[in-house]
Amino acid sequence: MFEVLVAKHAGACFGVERALRLVHETAEKTEGPIYTLGPLIHNPIVVADLEKADVHVAASVGEAPVDSTLILRTHGVAPSVVSEALEADLEVIDATCPFVTRCHEAAKSLSEAGYQVVVVGEKGHPETEATSAEVEGSLILGSRNDVREATLANKVGLVCQTTISEETLAEVAGAIVCRARETKVINTICAATRERQEAARQVAERADVMIVLGGKASANTCHLFDIASSVCERTYHIEEASELDPAWFTGARLVGLTAGASTPKDHIDACVQALEEIAQGACQGTPH
Ligand code: F3S
Repeated sequence: MFEVLVAKHAGACFGVERALRLVHETAEKTEGPIYTLGPLIHNPIVVADLEKADVHVAASVGEAPVDSTLILRTHGVAPSVVSEALEADLEVIDATCPFVTRCHEAAKSLSEAGYQVVVVGEKGHPETEATSAEVEGSLILGSRNDVREATLANKVGLVCQTTISEETLAEVAGAIVCRARETKVINTICAATRERQEAARQVAERADVMIVLGGKASANTCHLFDIASSVCERTYHIEEASELDPAWFTGARLVGLTAGASTPKDHIDACVQALEEIAQGACQGTPH
């Protein structure tokens, strides 16, 4: 028998809830086809549910049929993509998280002030690519090694992917400070990320087994896994409750649960329920 402890801050954040609301409102009042540009969020179960509700995924603007509505996802897109969609006469609904938009504004203000812009984060991630596209000549750097190989100007201005860890920001910023003559940092890590990371660490420190729930391609969920597994050896990353294996919980007294910012509340509830059933089963199977 074990107890289940859910992290104080876990699951869908403001930006994801807002995007899902926008999609559902759009689906209710729109007759024609609806597409999201790329998966709306990094959660394959949510994306499959949207597909069932006739909200499809277009890999590019060109894939969305004429007369369709195109929803831009939380991560944001490059300005050229918005122009392309408008030129194709698509109805564009912008579900970019306002905190991502704030990061874009910060990058532009640094550039206007004469700083070479560095986006601290993962290369190839849609959010960093979109932020970087706001400013010509910007770089995306995710580690001390990336900084070592980069050509830096005298004045460097940093913004960061909203979901990176504070450790990554500190590592990259520290390396840049040692190389550039002047460095300005605008910390654009979103509060939801910080809160989820801190709460995950607190639960993982107490837990015998830690479960991290959310998409395998979700950067913020993977960071939660990294943080939790650094303090709790028995940490597992799952996308849905059906992946839970009772064998993971042998001898556990406290099982912690956290979930990425792209994980809806009903997924967390289902996971808690499945864990409680496993705990009951373990209890019944224990000889007295
Ligand atoms: Fe927005 Fe932060 Fe969520 S940037 S999408 S509220 S993790």
